[in-house]
Amino acid sequence: MNHLKFIDGHGSFLLKQPENTSYLYFPLASETGLKSAVTPNLGGDAKINQEIFLLEPVSSENLHNNRSTRNFWFTKDGIGAYSAVGASAEQESVKFTSMQDEHELTAGFMWQTLKRTSVAYQLSSTVTSFIPRDDNVEIMHITVQNLSETPQEITAYAAVPIYGRSADNIRDHRSVTSMLHCIDTTENGVFVCPTMSFDEKGHRPNKQIYYVMGCTGKGSKPTDFYPTVESFLGEGGTFTHPGAVYKQYAGTSAFSHTAGKEAMGAFRFEPVLLARGESADYIVLLGTEDNKEAIFKLFEKYNSAEKVRQALQDTKTYWQNQIAVHFHTGEHKFDCWMKWVCFQPFLRRLFGCSFLPHHDYGRGGRGWRDLWQDCLSLLLMEPENVGHMIAMNFGGVRIDGTNATIIGDGNGNFLADRNGITRVWMDHALWPLMTTKLYIDQTGDFEILNRQIPYFKDSQIMRGTEADHLWKPEQGNRQRTVEDTVYTGSILEHLLIQQLTAFYEVGNHNIYRLRDADWNDALDMASEHGESVAFTCAYAGNLLELASLIRLLDGHSTTHTADLLEEITLLLQNNTEIFDNINQKHKILSDYSARCRHNISGRRISLSLSVLAVDLIQKANWLMEHLRAQEWIDIDSERGWFNSYYDNHGNAVEGLYKDQIRMMLTGQVFAVMSGVAEEEHIRKITLSADRYLYRKEIGGYRLNTDFHELKFDMGRMFGFAYGEKENGAVFSHMTVMYANALYRRGFVHEGWKALKTLADTALDFDTSHIYPGIPEYFRSDGRGMYQYLTGAASWYMLTMITEVFGVRGEAGDLLLYPKLLSCQFDADGAASITIPFAGKNLTVLYQNSNNKDFGDYIIDSASCDGTELEVNEDSFVILPRNMLTALSDTAHRIIINLL
Ligand code: G1P
Repeated sequence: MNHLKFIDGHGSFLLKQPENTSYLYFPLASETGLKSAVTPNLGGDAKINQEIFLLEPVSSENLHNNRSTRNFWFTKDGIGAYSAVGASAEQESVKFTSMQDEHELTAGFMWQTLKRTSVAYQLSSTVTSFIPRDDNVEIMHITVQNLSETPQEITAYAAVPIYGRSADNIRDHRSVTSMLHCIDTTENGVFVCPTMSFDEKGHRPNKQIYYVMGCTGKGSKPTDFYPTVESFLGEGGTFTHPGAVYKQYAGTSAFSHTAGKEAMGAFRFEPVLLARGESADYIVLLGTEDNKEAIFKLFEKYNSAEKVRQALQDTKTYWQNQIAVHFHTGEHKFDCWMKWVCFQPFLRRLFGCSFLPHHDYGRGGRGWRDLWQDCLSLLLMEPENVGHMIAMNFGGVRIDGTNATIIGDGNGNFLADRNGITRVWMDHALWPLMTTKLYIDQTGDFEILNRQIPYFKDSQIMRGTEADHLWKPEQGNRQRTVEDTVYTGSILEHLLIQQLTAFYEVGNHNIYRLRDADWNDALDMASEHGESVAFTCAYAGNLLELASLIRLLDGHSTTHTADLLEEITLLLQNNTEIFDNINQKHKILSDYSARCRHNISGRRISLSLSVLAVDLIQKANWLMEHLRAQEWIDIDSERGWFNSYYDNHGNAVEGLYKDQIRMMLTGQVFAVMSGVAEEEHIRKITLSADRYLYRKEIGGYRLNTDFHELKFDMGRMFGFAYGEKENGAVFSHMTVMYANALYRRGFVHEGWKALKTLADTALDFDTSHIYPGIPEYFRSDGRGMYQYLTGAASWYMLTMITEVFGVRGEAGDLLLYPKLLSCQFDADGAASITIPFAGKNLTVLYQNSNNKDFGDYIIDSASCDGTELEVNEDSFVILPRNMLTALSDTAHRIIINLL
């Protein structure tokens, strides 16, 4: 039985007995910094960044280990204590028995409600948790109702342990840093302000105040306070059986002061007598600010039930409105699930990669890849503002084509690695072009290619193989010329340098070197001789895309030229003899990189755009032929696929190996996406992937077959158990890119199979054990792992919109070319999508009254707000940009009839 149900059209869902499933956590966040994770028992944590953790940082294993959750207790007429979050020793002891409380969790974007009913205590309670979008405060609104026939006197206790320091202190200096705590009680709560923070960076005075405050729904204050863990637990007490609650001893009063201990945001309220059916409610606020006034102001803002209810409603409405894309297909559950997929890119933007319990690595920053990936979904939802972000991101590219890997806050802030650790991911130069291409298609703003942007400069030179000892951090992180001025070049120039330098950095098989890894971060042990065929395919596709962008620019240019850095001519060699000559390629790259060691000439030359485009096309064509001739593994008339990698011994990793089939998905994805794979290749690839990689019950296409070998000449992925993460899990991001590639090439049934299996497995709660959304991966038993923060969500959206519904921009015009299958239409033969485009809100409705499949239907007629649209001979519809911009700002309806 599936316990999870959607309860409205916004993706809100209900789950019964949620604490009977492990590892569940739900994200809450504001847009101003506070990020929380809440479990069904209100475990999890809350933080602003790595340095400012309000609650003790948790990773996934702490979710069932820690008992120091947010808690809210009711004692009853001296007979015992009931926890509204289910975190009492007593409640835990009856778990899995008929005595367990009835418990329902409902949740939607940025809010969660726990409803619990206890027969033993004849109480029912709710705890709603949320964070308003523009305040750094987590709000708990607690209600309690007397279910018994007779009146009951209850006393409420709020209990939230305050950690109040850097995540680094979870081990390092855990005890010593508690000695820094200055703890004050106020009329409504507990404030903790550590005197200083210290670590290897030095000793710094601290101003950050961590607080827990509370009142009743009507605004009454607490009566007693327990501001330290010791005062709340009492000697021998535990968080699930605290002395203050069970022994009901008095606490301290308001305006007390203590110091040097682990802090506790605990207080109790005046007892209340609840008549039969009567309710009471309480508000608890937890957060952190750097001054008391801000805290008091927030308290004023949220100190009554009415204010909190309104804030909850505003929070719900705000986030629902942020999701500007709506899908309607034949499957309501799938449409609701897509809401969460569309919400996930927001979560990734707010939480980065480090701030939910499974993401127990990193210190909060996002990586280069994530930066570009997150733009994809934004481009589909609010394209107008993304241009600036993209332009700023190009400031992270180095003049040698590599890029900064440490990304600061705000747009375009890149940092030099202080530790001098050089790591070059060979796929990094790929993503900026993909994102820029989408941006130009969605907005028509090809002029962005001419925008002047600086280059990043640090001590890394020669593509991460040498250090520039002439460069000093005080010179700043901008590439300078011989005249010592900051150099700027066009975005087109940045793109050219990225794609061209990559072209020459090849290994012994004339395939792009793997360097320290590609998309697969765990292929990190083949930096000398490893080569990534997978991403060589991708780059070959990129060269063609860049050529087409250059032609677009040429079509609108009066000069038909581009002004580029003089040194780039070294990279513009289009003699195919050079292409075949590995040594010659190395020489070209090292000549170029050496010319750009410390500074550059700053001189520019004017090059013909059409000549540039031809240069790139020649390189792409050569690469594609080379890849087809060298990397295709033909097994028989049904089976075949591309080798994806060479290991550090220079051996191809795929094919038949000692009676074993070795196949990886990554190589297939990019061979198909780029056009390296031809129709016949794709047919064999899909058959082979179905045979060797597909497991329906765990989400579909696995990343690779089991190599049964540690492969120290390839990467740490082979150390992971088979089926975990990069070693053979169903890794959503790659599976979605596989689907995307198949759709692009017209293999629609195959593409949908990949997408649908992911969705079905995620939605099958009893298998995936996750709330709705796409996880980073499904492990070998189908459990969804690393929920929420995955680039897969952006790609899933992208594929649904631009491929499945076929609603996509082409140099700014809107092109409609659906690839929907008959099973995706509702009972009336309708499927629709609502999406912003060209600043307008468009609903595109496809009507397929004869219930035909993709390939069988053609577009018969089309209209926009009742005005007929022309249908192209090849059965697609184009709405020119100028027609769209002339439309009013209200919502518009495009109807496409399929025949
Ligand atoms: C994660 C990383 C991503 C990397 C991938 C494979 O994927 O964030 O950069 O390419 O693992 O190693 P994600 O979480 O985006 O699904």
